[in-house]
Amino acid sequence: MSLPFPHLIAGLTGLAFLLSACGGATATATPAASAATTSSPSEQSTELPSSPAKQPTETAAQTIEAIVQLTPSAVSEDPPSLPTPDCASLSLTPPDAEGPYFLDNTPQRASLIEPGMSGERLTLSGYVLTVDCRPLSGVRLEFWQADANGQYDLQGYRLRGHLFTDANGFYRLETILPAIYGGRPRHIHVKVLPPTGGGLTTQLYFPGDSPLPALTVVLTQRATGAQAVFHFVLPAQ
Ligand SMILES: [Fe+2]
Repeated sequence: MSLPFPHLIAGLTGLAFLLSACGGATATATPAASAATTSSPSEQSTELPSSPAKQPTETAAQTIEAIVQLTPSAVSEDPPSLPTPDCASLSLTPPDAEGPYFLDNTPQRASLIEPGMSGERLTLSGYVLTVDCRPLSGVRLEFWQADANGQYDLQGYRLRGHLFTDANGFYRLETILPAIYGGRPRHIHVKVLPPTGGGLTTQLYFPGDSPLPALTVVLTQRATGAQAVFHFVLPAQ
């Protein structure tokens, strides 16, 4: 049986170990903001959270309090720990319409969240693998979506970006839940682009208003926000 909330548990366990090793350091909740403004690829943040200051006199209670204050962004640097998909139940991810709002040359970033952005926080993660269950590394995933008011940024790259799967085929994106707009259900557009060529353009939907079960994420509500899981399955390569 897999542990609930494995990322957070792994992150907190690692942090607790680090705090212990440091004699009880103060952990500061420092969101890894992705950009300072909204409309340029150059806005991608490369800043890391500042190193915690050593506080030798801190009590165990203070250490626990510091751990609890961690934000989702603060633990998002942890290695992936999602269970791998069941190889016996893989089926090809179906394509879906690209729609009119795709823009190329997006910034590479693991978080689309920007300072002041409204909307419910969402972590979307999973694996990209072939139908014969081989993980695909280096796959470029392009994401674009509406904001919490159902608006797309057509001038810049707000709520647009791309990232690459790691050596295990794993990806993880921090964003917000898109709103319903124009009578369409909530959805996130995705392009799945393997380095070997080919690929897939599709959309991900959410339980409750999804028109396509095969493109519906598994959604869990966490204390830190919504957590969606979706695995992309491509033809054997
Ligand atoms: Fe759309």
